[in-house]
Amino acid sequence: MRKKIIAANWKMNNTKEDALKLLVDLVNQNYSPELRIIIAPAFTQLAMAAEKTKLTNIEIAAQNISSESKGAYTGEVSAAMIKSEGVRTTILGHSERRALFNETNDTLKLKVRSAISEGLEVIYCFGEELNDRKLGNHFNVVKTQLKTALFNENNESWNKIILAYEPIWAIGTGENASPEQIQEMHMFIRDTISEKYGELIAKNVSILYGGSIKPNNAKDIFSEDDVDGGLIGGASLNIDDFSLIVNCIQIE
Ligand code: 13P
Repeated sequence: MRKKIIAANWKMNNTKEDALKLLVDLVNQNYSPELRIIIAPAFTQLAMAAEKTKLTNIEIAAQNISSESKGAYTGEVSAAMIKSEGVRTTILGHSERRALFNETNDTLKLKVRSAISEGLEVIYCFGEELNDRKLGNHFNVVKTQLKTALFNENNESWNKIILAYEPIWAIGTGENASPEQIQEMHMFIRDTISEKYGELIAKNVSILYGGSIKPNNAKDIFSEDDVDGGLIGGASLNIDDFSLIVNCIQIE
């Protein structure tokens, strides 16, 4: 049975002191152990975050990894490096990385392989631009993002994959997709996985929504059948907002 997940993408925010304070606040919240809480700080804070949350049910993720396993790649960080810091999960394919750092579906295929072959879990982000949606092309875009980066993985890999649908027009804009639009897309995603890998894998994969989730819209979004939680950006930087969002998720 798939688990409910709330993940926080801190992006390039928080100094070490800010991060430490937020981690202490998070640990003190005692969120339900039925729920997975995954926090993604910057690379420089991963070791500290893993240490501070070691005996808690808060998990730590990286925001990105290299597609390469080691060698002369100045400035890059490998899957094995983050694993050796006690981190078990990485976000991949965030739209900011696609748009600002030229990550393509083909690059992401390599990154996904690199992460999974090192035993890491992947939160794979994808989603259409506003223009794709206006042209009615959003389902095709999403299907290609899934197929190219993930569909050469075998059945076993799906134990290590979490999906995060983040329509680009909803990220950091304050304009969230409507619960109906989200449910429609999440159902399409599950059907697309089912066509390729069968119903069981499709049923068990967690599909998160991300894009302007706030305390006042989280409950409606999380109550949709195919929404298994959220990937939170801006609102994850404030402990009160984040906790209000966490409390919006219904655990069966
Ligand atoms: P916001 O919640 O700030 O819109 O960001 C969403 C996001 O990009 C999470 O990865």
